[in-house]
Amino acid sequence: MPGVKPIRPYSVSPIRPVPKSIPRPPYIGAPGPEVYHGSDVQTQETIERMRLAGRIAAQAIQVTAAAIAPGVTTDQLDALAHEFICDQGAYPSTLGYRGFPKSICSSVNEVVCHGIPDARPLEDGDLVKIDITVFKDGVHGDNCATFGCGALDQASADLMVHTEEAMNRAIRAVKPGRQLNIVGRVVEAYAGRFGYGVVRDYTGHGVHTAFHSGLIVLHHDEPALTRLIEPGMTFTIEPMLTLGDYHCHQWDDGWTVVTNDGSRAAQFEQTLVVTADGAEILTRAD
Ligand code: MF3
Ligand code: CO
Ligand code: CO
Repeated sequence: MPGVKPIRPYSVSPIRPVPKSIPRPPYIGAPGPEVYHGSDVQTQETIERMRLAGRIAAQAIQVTAAAIAPGVTTDQLDALAHEFICDQGAYPSTLGYRGFPKSICSSVNEVVCHGIPDARPLEDGDLVKIDITVFKDGVHGDNCATFGCGALDQASADLMVHTEEAMNRAIRAVKPGRQLNIVGRVVEAYAGRFGYGVVRDYTGHGVHTAFHSGLIVLHHDEPALTRLIEPGMTFTIEPMLTLGDYHCHQWDDGWTVVTNDGSRAAQFEQTLVVTADGAEILTRAD
């Protein structure tokens, strides 16, 4: 964007401790998670536990987003989220996941996803994505939302609104008996009206006892994704839409994903459970 400096890496603070009393997900201390071999359909008991994890994850976003303002660093946002999550007796799922060093992902402007909170002060006009996952009672709740810092330019404000609407349309399209490709068909069709790019390299995913179960939910139209949607399936829908081209690459920090053309991205994410006739959002704050 003219007049806006590209995002660059700033220093990352030391790892924040989690009280010993809070149970960790099984991948903590390992190089990565074990492959999940269980069902994509969850029991009512697991779904019930996911409601609580989902609520904490949604509330954590609210608490964190309320602090977004020019001059506040993304590390300060991480500290707020970390404290809130631990106060609920929950574990911030990203902390130590495949070596990720922080409790939230904070992805600003052309950073598409997996931004590491650091010492960069937010600036007026920044487009800020906050992605928070929490682990509570053996299950994860994963959600993300986009916020404006100060006054957004019109194109960024529109992108933010339209990305949330793309997600919500996809959620409403989820029904047992339909193929999982309905999600990408709906997102891509809606994004196309505005000429947005739809990021392909990062996807929605099954989530429950596993953070990323292996079930993949594409946000672009892929007819070959014929897997049928079934009641009790739990997965995320988390479209990343760009003002320019969708192609992106990762920084050599092994995490931060930015658009190749420097165009801005927005993202929204919810964790869902498929019901008898649709989908219910598990990552609700109320
Ligand atoms: N919450 C992200 C997702 O939506 C995953 C973040 S993994 C991390 O799937 F290691 F980058 F934090
Ligand atoms: Co996710
Ligand atoms: Co997420």
